[in-house]
Amino acid sequence: MGLCSVQLAVTCLFIVVVVVPHVLSQVTEFTSVDCGGSSNYTDPRTGLRWISDSEIIKHGKPVTLSSTNWNSMQYRRRRDFPTDNKKYCYRLSTKERRRYIVRTTFLYGSLGNEEAYPKFQLYLDATKWATVTIEEVSRVYVKELIVRATSSYVDVCVCCAITGSPFMSTLELRPLNLSMYATDYEDNFFLKVAARVNFGALSMDALRYPDDPYDRIWESDVNRRPNFLVGVAPGTTRINTSKSINTLTREYPPMKVMQTAVVGTQGLISYRLNLEDFPANARAYAYFAEIEDLSANETRKFKLAQPYFPDYSNAVVNIAENANGSYTLYEPSYMNVTLDFVLTFSFGKTKDSTRGPLLNAIEVSKYLQISSKTDRSDVSVLDALCSMSPDSDWANEGGDPCIPVLWSWVNCSSTSPPRVTKIVLSRKNLRGEVLAEINYMEALTELWLDGNGLTGNLPDLSKLVNLKIMHLENNQLSGSLPPYLVHLPNLQELYIENNSFRGTIPSGLLKGNVLFKYNNNPKLRNEAQRKHFKLILGISIAAVAILLLLLGGSLGLLCALRKKKRADKGDSTGTKKKGLVAYSAVRGGHLLDEGVAYFIPLPVLEAATDNFSKRVGKGSFGSVYYGRMKDGKEVAVKITADTSSHLNRQFVTEVALLSRIHHRNLVPLIGYCEEADRRILVYEYMHNGTLGDHLYGSNDYKPLDWPTRLQIAQDAAKGLEYLHTGCNPSIIHSDVKSSNILLDINMRAKVSDFGLSRQTEEDLTHVSSVAKGTVGYLDPEYYASQQLTEKSDVYSFGVVLFELLSGKKPVSVEDFGPQLNIVHWARALIRKGDVCGIIDPCILGNVKIESIWRVAEVANQCVEQRGYCRPRMQEVIVAIQDAVRIERGNENGMNSSSPCGSKAQSSSRKTLLTSFLEIESPDISRNSLAPAAR
Ligand SMILES: *[C@@H]1O[C@H](CO)[C@@H](O)[C@H](O)[C@H]1NC(C)=O
Ligand SMILES: *[C@@H]1O[C@H](CO)[C@@H](O)[C@H](O)[C@H]1NC(C)=O
Ligand SMILES: *[C@@H]1O[C@H](CO)[C@@H](O)[C@H](O)[C@H]1NC(C)=O
Ligand SMILES: *[C@@H]1O[C@H](CO)[C@@H](O)[C@H](O)[C@H]1NC(C)=O
Ligand SMILES: *[C@@H]1O[C@H](CO)[C@@H](O)[C@H](O)[C@H]1NC(C)=O
Ligand SMILES: *[C@@H]1O[C@H](CO)[C@@H](O)[C@H](O)[C@H]1NC(C)=O
Repeated sequence: MGLCSVQLAVTCLFIVVVVVPHVLSQVTEFTSVDCGGSSNYTDPRTGLRWISDSEIIKHGKPVTLSSTNWNSMQYRRRRDFPTDNKKYCYRLSTKERRRYIVRTTFLYGSLGNEEAYPKFQLYLDATKWATVTIEEVSRVYVKELIVRATSSYVDVCVCCAITGSPFMSTLELRPLNLSMYATDYEDNFFLKVAARVNFGALSMDALRYPDDPYDRIWESDVNRRPNFLVGVAPGTTRINTSKSINTLTREYPPMKVMQTAVVGTQGLISYRLNLEDFPANARAYAYFAEIEDLSANETRKFKLAQPYFPDYSNAVVNIAENANGSYTLYEPSYMNVTLDFVLTFSFGKTKDSTRGPLLNAIEVSKYLQISSKTDRSDVSVLDALCSMSPDSDWANEGGDPCIPVLWSWVNCSSTSPPRVTKIVLSRKNLRGEVLAEINYMEALTELWLDGNGLTGNLPDLSKLVNLKIMHLENNQLSGSLPPYLVHLPNLQELYIENNSFRGTIPSGLLKGNVLFKYNNNPKLRNEAQRKHFKLILGISIAAVAILLLLLGGSLGLLCALRKKKRADKGDSTGTKKKGLVAYSAVRGGHLLDEGVAYFIPLPVLEAATDNFSKRVGKGSFGSVYYGRMKDGKEVAVKITADTSSHLNRQFVTEVALLSRIHHRNLVPLIGYCEEADRRILVYEYMHNGTLGDHLYGSNDYKPLDWPTRLQIAQDAAKGLEYLHTGCNPSIIHSDVKSSNILLDINMRAKVSDFGLSRQTEEDLTHVSSVAKGTVGYLDPEYYASQQLTEKSDVYSFGVVLFELLSGKKPVSVEDFGPQLNIVHWARALIRKGDVCGIIDPCILGNVKIESIWRVAEVANQCVEQRGYCRPRMQEVIVAIQDAVRIERGNENGMNSSSPCGSKAQSSSRKTLLTSFLEIESPDISRNSLAPAAR
């Protein structure tokens, strides 16, 4: 039961809309299919255009529901499908990687003569979406998924009836804008909507389009179906406002939903509801907007009491503060929580709060594991086969060839992804040549193409190493039998009778264990030519042998030449070895393992750095000098000035620690030295300086383009992630900044200066005496609490991302005026929707704005006030990789020519703002979403 299995009383879907809907551009992108419907029409209540499925699907039959109660056009008819072992699918066009709501509804409306109500399976592509169980004939059952399209279409299929026959009433596809409902798991999981509730609703009716421009269905909390929002805490009252509410957050809930709420006047809000298909991992949202006018001496502070999640439950919600103002939405989301079948949730006020908790809406969606569709290359071959006979039934079975049930003429493996193992197209009237692409179906074991009108040569099928049985008899194939047939390792049966093959039969086919039938190929030579054939074979074997000999000889010669060359070049590696030996000899010990920092004597370093003459930087550790070792290796030599004994011990620990850390995105420590009161660390030299130099520090470098910036962000993020999760004990950098991100000769980024990082203690919290770090990058939470966590690095990294986006320094009166620092400046712009205002003018031009948006978004999350709201580095990496894919991908968002255009800035910025931030423009929202008189 839960929202989806639905028990939505029919009336809930029938919204009485008084406001005539504005025709938003979104509507044209909606797909609304009336299954079984007889005509296309516009629903006067919603302004949505519905199309009949009569030209979309060939299967099943429309059934007119007997009752005429259904005043909604969509529910006058349904489409019933046969009860058999096939699947029946609708194919909806999508844009790859865009997110959509896919919704199906089912209203059975009994005809009175069925033995049992239908129960059957619903699939989206290869993923089992739901079991549809009709228990009440006059209810609309709603199933809703939020998906990111993986190709240019999605298939919605019904199949596998347990009782009755499968049917469908409506099918809806609603595109979402940009990053709405993005999750970290979307490569592997769909979101299956389990509850979306509007609290304090003004009526029983659900809210949807046009109140919600994305046509989500927000159920009313006064809906009185069983097990829906029971156990309401005493003192719960309903409040509403007609003031407009700023809902420009991540998911853009409709204002109407936010204008109502419930308040726990006795200090507690509590509800219980059932969630279909749970327990499961879920994404949960709470929507809070302060819609009461509190006087200055009043506060509303509360915590999530149930279910208890340590990370979330300890956080005090103070809506007005979290949202920075009343009538503004605060939208915390619980990214991955495990919930039970029965969800009991409650919010309790804190002791010092004068008002009880408030709640406007919730959404709960289950993570539904995506099952792999059949291997793409197999599918494309099957599609090509279908297009050879486009009107036949077998070519129109629809959906995925293997899942949930097989097409009638294929068999598949049970691997993931499934592969096609058998094709049976005997006597299907196929014309033309045997498709050469079949060669890519490596998993194929049986191929039946007999009894068709196939012509031409047999193509190269030599990759079909699993092929056991091939039927080609009774066609008009010609040409010679290709030699690879002898070498198919698993071939057991080959039938080619009644064709026009010519030439000689490869002898292996006749001698081997292959059952080979070749009668009635008049021009095919066989035994009669055998002797002759053997002679030829003999000659050719001799020829091959001679050739091999020759080849062998020349190869040998080549190798010898190569070796000599290597020996000549070997000089440099030789010196290096010698160098290493020298160091270890001085140390008196043995040579440390390769890749482990080794002791380098001071004189060697003095020689390498020409007596520390070329200073290239100053890190928190001390000065940095350029050096070149005897073997030619360029190094950066860091010297610390302070030589207190405390530091001394720290130094030893750190070298030990550092020499254990190796990662592609961390600057490698080569060696160290502690002599003559000096503590020296020797690192690999990074030729391209620091990231800061490239962004704003130096005129020597040309501006970085966006793909390079993304690469740098990704590299640096990986380095940090390794420190956080790949080291034991884990390491908090504590001074992440653009001058600690170095670029090597290939412009790949490596994080440096984690030499002074602290190890996290076993108990996870670390109290240090002084907040260390750099102004502009310092995590405010750490500053206040002195508790250093990985999330402090995440904060600083967020600042680096803003630098990458804007090309500006983190702190600057010049750039940010009174806001002073980049975080306040950038967040304010993002909140206003003006991401273009942030972007470094140098990277405008041919960039995909969606890619930039993705980075801006994650940067914004990184600099959340509270650590627990910030993503982990892993999640940051995923976001950056997303941005890279978008930037590389061929989806053309708003890309091509300068998305933020320097001319006509203000006007283009406005339209951009709306499309970009995926919001309805404020004006529209005020007109169409104002609360309607009901
Ligand atoms: C309904 O609309 C669809 C798509 O616009 C079109 O293909 C189809 O022909 C229309 N059907 C009827 C019955 O007008
Ligand atoms: C909205 O709230 C006001 C009080 O603020 C109340 O008088 C009114 O009845 C409420 N409207 C509805 C439809 O509940
Ligand atoms: C959610 O968290 C659980 C446990 O921490 C984990 O096993 C799971 O992979 C996560 N993600 C999803 C989508 O369930
Ligand atoms: C807040 O101040 C008002 C007067 O301004 C007073 O009537 C009210 O009792 C105060 N409320 C609390 C909770 O102190
Ligand atoms: C919070 O809102 C106030 C006015 O409502 C504004 O002056 C201030 O800049 C906002 N703070 C942030 C961080 O946006
Ligand atoms: C979604 O974005 C598109 C452009 O990407 C824009 O045209 C449309 O108005 C947006 N839809 C809504 C409901 O904001």
